[in-house]
Amino acid sequence: MNPNKVLWEKGDFTKIASTMRDSGEELVASLGVKKGMKVLDLGCGDGNTAIPFARTGADIIGVDIAQNLVDAGNERARKEGLGNIRFFEGDAADLNGQKDGEFDLTFSIFGAMFASNPFKVANEMVRVTKKGGKIIMGNWIPNDPTLVAQILKISSAYTPPPPEGFISPMTWGVEKNVIERFGAAGIPEEKISFERALFIFRAPYSPKEYVSVFKNFYGPTMNAFDAAAKNDKSDELQKELEDLFNKHNTSASTDKTEITAAYLKVTVQC
Ligand SMILES: C[S@@+](CC[C@H](N)C(=O)[O-])C[C@H]1O[C@@H](n2cnc3c(N)ncnc32)[C@H](O)[C@@H]1O
Repeated sequence: MNPNKVLWEKGDFTKIASTMRDSGEELVASLGVKKGMKVLDLGCGDGNTAIPFARTGADIIGVDIAQNLVDAGNERARKEGLGNIRFFEGDAADLNGQKDGEFDLTFSIFGAMFASNPFKVANEMVRVTKKGGKIIMGNWIPNDPTLVAQILKISSAYTPPPPEGFISPMTWGVEKNVIERFGAAGIPEEKISFERALFIFRAPYSPKEYVSVFKNFYGPTMNAFDAAAKNDKSDELQKELEDLFNKHNTSASTDKTEITAAYLKVTVQC
């Protein structure tokens, strides 16, 4: 089975996504999507951005490799009575169900960056986007001092080295890689722009509990804890993450967590 599918179906990302709703909604509101537009949300999870897109009246397709998240997204859409959105299981590197030039906007926030073949991902995003349409990606930035880059960095230090040939998802957070990947898909550099943007995580519980949520439900951190347990290092990992979450928490209340993380926002004019 696709290792990405195994990784993301292992946990339950809805538990993290529920702490990402405010920034997901704000990001969608900033993009000016309108009724009648066709939008593809890749690595959409349970619809953190896909559901706000659907509320604009646009036609939305959400694609995610994890069937549990596809099911959760469809259930959220059903509960809201949104008939203009469908979630499908699929791989961002192989969008065989989607026609060429179908979408006004191809969007992926912290999603397509995790697919295993970045050049195929760029190629597929360009292929399915209309001429004159846009691609927008949000990618975590390697070695950035803020939350998610640090969680992934700490987690990988406890996990066995990846197989040979593995390309880290974090490479999508480096401008020259983005230019190279979209360049290979036929997009000239001047049509690609970058911005360091911010995303806020808000959890209605303490940083310590938030670490437990990552430990129990976020695939990469679950794998890190599994590996750490084998080496008797679970307490060390727990402490590193609690220190990180406490350091970045800006909530005034002890039973709430609010943490801002930076990401690379990529805009491609097709
Ligand atoms: C960090 S989550 C972000 C989810 C969502 N975009 C959000 O903002 O809540 C990463 C998502 O990418 C999905 N994913 C990972 N590899 C993928 C691939 N090859 N194709 C499609 N989705 C993928 C995972 O299943 C997961 O839902």
